[in-house]
Amino acid sequence: MDLYAVFGNPIAHSKSPWIHARFAEQTSQQISYEARLAPRDGFASAVAAFRNEGGRGANVTVPFKLEACALADRRSARAEAAGAANTLIFDERGITADNTDGVGLVRDLAHLGYTLEGSRVLLLGAGGAARGALLPLLAEAPSSLTIANRTVEKALALATAFQPEGRACALLGCGFDALQGSTFDVVINATSSSLSDDAPPLPQGIYAPGALAYDMMYGSDETRFMQAARELGAERLSDGLGMLVEQAAESFFLWRGVRPDTQPVREALRGTLA
Ligand code: ATR
Repeated sequence: MDLYAVFGNPIAHSKSPWIHARFAEQTSQQISYEARLAPRDGFASAVAAFRNEGGRGANVTVPFKLEACALADRRSARAEAAGAANTLIFDERGITADNTDGVGLVRDLAHLGYTLEGSRVLLLGAGGAARGALLPLLAEAPSSLTIANRTVEKALALATAFQPEGRACALLGCGFDALQGSTFDVVINATSSSLSDDAPPLPQGIYAPGALAYDMMYGSDETRFMQAARELGAERLSDGLGMLVEQAAESFFLWRGVRPDTQPVREALRGTLA
């Protein structure tokens, strides 16, 4: 039985053990996957102890994603670009860090019927979640990608940092005020505002006909961002539950070389939230 775990603090709420247990059943993989609480100042030693127990890989969540990326011996391009890792692979070569969050987002958008090529995309937020999504979003070749953040300087810095990857599309950074008069096909909330039952202030007319409002957060109820998007006329709304399942599926693939079917797992997980 190969050992995997998710490290975080807090971790009790994590849905990852449940998701990976479904993937393992579905693909007949013999794995054990558990949630492990790491002390805030003890992530590296918790990972080392797990490797000594025979751990083959790990997921990493708040607040350890930056540290996970830094402690690895090797990093994928998407982990390097994000400066954060949610997936670690342990083998004879040491620790490899990857980041499957952004690709999870892009796959979930595709499930919802939104291919981003040629689309006008608005990414709200300039923290870790936004940073993790940028490279995979740019890889889809949207016609424009606008990063808007409460602290304008952070949006500008992110747009500058990712400029080389964004050559094919217009990559812009701005504050929320500057969105007046702009229209988008896909608006992604990568701020943590929903945690405080808040939403970024967006102007009327921001949602194009048929546009999608996507919150990376999820819960049993619609997030504040989704409610605000409905009021602003967004035709499609989604929370980030599908992204959670898709990022897990990509981690599972990295570890096991097998792609689980995410659809039944997404549906079952939604049922457990209700
Ligand atoms: P995460 O890893 O979840 O991205 P983070 O790195 O702390 O967390 O970033 C939080 C993001 O949410 C930031 O973009 C933050 O905006 P600031 O850079 O201006 O702080 C944004 N954010 C948090 N609460 C918000 C709110 N109530 N309204 C708008 N943006 C908010």
